[in-house]
Amino acid sequence: MKLRSVRGTHDIFGEEIDKFNFISNIVSKNANLKEYKEIQTPIFEFSDLFAKPLGELSDVVLKEMYSFEDRNNEYLTLRPEYTTPMIRAAITNNLLNDLPLKIFGIGPMFRRERPQKGRYRQFNQINFEILGTRDFLADVELISLSNNILNELLPKSKIKLHINSLGDKKTLIDFKKSLTKYFNTYKKKLSEESVKKIESNPLRILDSKNQADVEISLSSPKIYEYLTDEAKKHYEDLKRSLNILEIDFEENANLVRGLDYYCNTVFEYKSDNLGSQDTLLGGGRYDGLIKVLGGPDIPGIGWAAGIERIALLMEYEKKISSTVHIAVTNEKFTDYFLYLQKYLSEYRISYYWNYKYNLKKSFTKANISSASYIIIIGENEFNGDFFTIKNLMTGEQKELKLNQIFNHLNDKSR
Ligand code: HAM
Repeated sequence: MKLRSVRGTHDIFGEEIDKFNFISNIVSKNANLKEYKEIQTPIFEFSDLFAKPLGELSDVVLKEMYSFEDRNNEYLTLRPEYTTPMIRAAITNNLLNDLPLKIFGIGPMFRRERPQKGRYRQFNQINFEILGTRDFLADVELISLSNNILNELLPKSKIKLHINSLGDKKTLIDFKKSLTKYFNTYKKKLSEESVKKIESNPLRILDSKNQADVEISLSSPKIYEYLTDEAKKHYEDLKRSLNILEIDFEENANLVRGLDYYCNTVFEYKSDNLGSQDTLLGGGRYDGLIKVLGGPDIPGIGWAAGIERIALLMEYEKKISSTVHIAVTNEKFTDYFLYLQKYLSEYRISYYWNYKYNLKKSFTKANISSASYIIIIGENEFNGDFFTIKNLMTGEQKELKLNQIFNHLNDKSR
């Protein structure tokens, strides 16, 4: 059998792992600043956790879940998203006593989608949730947090925030009815996929990328006309706050999100630079979800972003490595090298040697690794009891005694 990885999965290394670590660090820093507590949940859960909350007719549930029967006849599913497992964890670990609960998590998700650029079957998400408050300021806080994180990682010009309100339960029932009526008059022109959704899930047609569907959706009924007074106020309060915070946004009446648990505020960050997988972050309110999962009747809101999609948009700057490279020119000097190794370890200086007694190869490796220093051990150094240290950025070269190396490397004035 030919050795290969599973379709839709990818190994993360080199530049990409640097970007992943950078993103994770920025996320954790921002989470700490705002006192969000980290939760890691298992990558598989009982299948029942997902089907109803995500929507039995949603694409994720119908086509994309990795589910299997365990040996004891229990059905398990690799988590396709983080919100439901996080809520499950908050309920089963009794974390809902002190509300609001602010939590975040980073980790792999699994969806059996058709793989393409920016779309994988195993991908990584950043996820933030606030459980237990209906206040519009929680919506503002989470959008502003996503804005801060993305602005630290990406040029502003590459991303655009879209917002919409789906209103409450009554809004959605009335709106769905009116959409079904509208789309029924276009049955012959809509894509086959959308025709199937007219009765069961007409909201999803608004999300379609098919050109004919998009054109028909342009003149479809707009949800804003169906919002209750309360939902309208929530949405207006949110927009006013975003303006005060100078967070740019675009109202997008066709933004409906792909999972069924949303109500009121929904939002997405999109980019023109990502091809057809143009959404890098998405979220919204889910005021009925916690109860559906067996918890108390409390509201919630959150968002998730795909790390792979953020990484695709990031401009990569190769970092200057702080690792000192070593060049030993001959096997005769291995004992002398060991004195250096002991010193560097004691002073916690990170170092690298390729075990090749070859000056040229050691320099090449140091340059590829963007090292700033190389220490050379050759005949002169051994006989004179010193080490030659070359700054690879400036070209400056110094002959130093062992005990001078630490100060030299840490002399910031140079
Ligand atoms: P979602 O829109 O399904 O929302 O996914 C959020 C983000 O995950 C997407 O915007 C995208 O960047 C990334 N993503 C999704 N599928 C893939 C894939 N196949 N390959 C690569 N990246 C992908 C949720 O998952 C909700 N749980 C978000 C949320 C949190 N809502 C409330 N709280």
